[in-house]
Amino acid sequence: MAEKFKASKGTADILPDAMAGHRLVVETARAIWERAGYGTIETPIFEDTGLFQRGVGDSTDIVRKEMFTFEDQGGRSLTLRPEGTAPVCRAFVEHGMSRLPQPVKLGYAGSFFRHEKPQAGRYRQFHQIGVEAIGTESPLADFEVIALLDELVSELGIPGVTLRIGSLGSLDARRSYLEVLKGYLRERSGELSEDVRERIEINPLRAFDSDHEGTAVVMEGAPRLIDHLDGADREHFDEVQALLRAGGIEFELDTTLVRGLDYYTRTIFSFVCDRLGAQSEIGGGGRYDGLISQLGGPETPAVGWAAGVERILLALDPETETPSPDVFIAWADEGDRERAVVLVRELRLKGLSAGIDIAGRNLKGQLKQADRTGARWTLILNTDGSGELKRMETGEQQTIDPGDLAGLDLN
Ligand code: HAM
Repeated sequence: MAEKFKASKGTADILPDAMAGHRLVVETARAIWERAGYGTIETPIFEDTGLFQRGVGDSTDIVRKEMFTFEDQGGRSLTLRPEGTAPVCRAFVEHGMSRLPQPVKLGYAGSFFRHEKPQAGRYRQFHQIGVEAIGTESPLADFEVIALLDELVSELGIPGVTLRIGSLGSLDARRSYLEVLKGYLRERSGELSEDVRERIEINPLRAFDSDHEGTAVVMEGAPRLIDHLDGADREHFDEVQALLRAGGIEFELDTTLVRGLDYYTRTIFSFVCDRLGAQSEIGGGGRYDGLISQLGGPETPAVGWAAGVERILLALDPETETPSPDVFIAWADEGDRERAVVLVRELRLKGLSAGIDIAGRNLKGQLKQADRTGARWTLILNTDGSGELKRMETGEQQTIDPGDLAGLDLN
């Protein structure tokens, strides 16, 4: 027997009975961003590797060890997108969207790829939904995008969710803070994990994220970025918080919040769910005021988020379901077979969900099939041209003209 293939490690098929849940998350998100005036954008699955090196940042885990990178036949280095913000910003610059009325508001959904160690809630191919509001530094935009993710959480009814927010300040404020933090870490390098010690110079902020015990103790006393914000950053952050309070969106201030991407400035936020284990963040994002100019565009402040569809589904655990037809068409006499296929085709063209057996079964087999598919009604064609319409739940039956079927109330 030939060797059987399995889906590659950390990737998964979405089978039909799970598709309803997946679609519910994506469609709910799309409806939420569209009613807030966000257009939908789709960017390619792969991009030039340089986009992520420059956009996401050379010092991040994503770029250092998680990208699926390959060379194409022309010797160019390409990468399966690990995230959506850099590609959306690339598209913004490439299509001259800075000439459009600002801000440009965009939403997206799709597959993303990271070479991570697979576990519950962490996969190598996963799905994100996300929004980006590009072209304004107003705290109103921070508020709006956070409110959209909050709406998604409540509309889907995701239980046990907390919003954490923090601020990283502007790039300048961050640079001077990072020097202070590096100094603090260097002095205590003996107590830090090897991984954190190695990255003091390139990414000291990640030390806040470490689960190494000694590092955690050191980080408790570490200087906080929030205390190093300049006046404008502080005011911006205060306004974001005031808007959230006014909007009735509960949050926790988290002065140690960090994110795994380099482009963030000012507001950062994270929605965590207590029903999930180690991978508890269902979605998060923040401001990235320097990214567009870093990608060759004009100075353009922006803010957005992305959420993980699989993580939301883990938290929701929705019931699985497969589509069942409104009506199943069956026949007893072989001579009525053609009438049946023509009728099914007509009904489907009229927008009805109509089932039929396509395995050549006899009437008994067809009726069994009707039952299995969960059809609510069955119509058995009679040789005289009429049909017996049966409500499956009650067994009630009536004789009708099959031509009238599309006009009947099949609820
Ligand atoms: P991120 O935090 O890297 O941010 O990912 C956003 C969300 O994607 C996470 O909160 C998580 O739910 C989900 N996610 C990430 N990695 C995986 C994985 N390996 N398996 C399953 N789910 C995963 C970003 O990607 C930024 N682009 C967000 C953003 C948009 N910031 C500003 N605009």
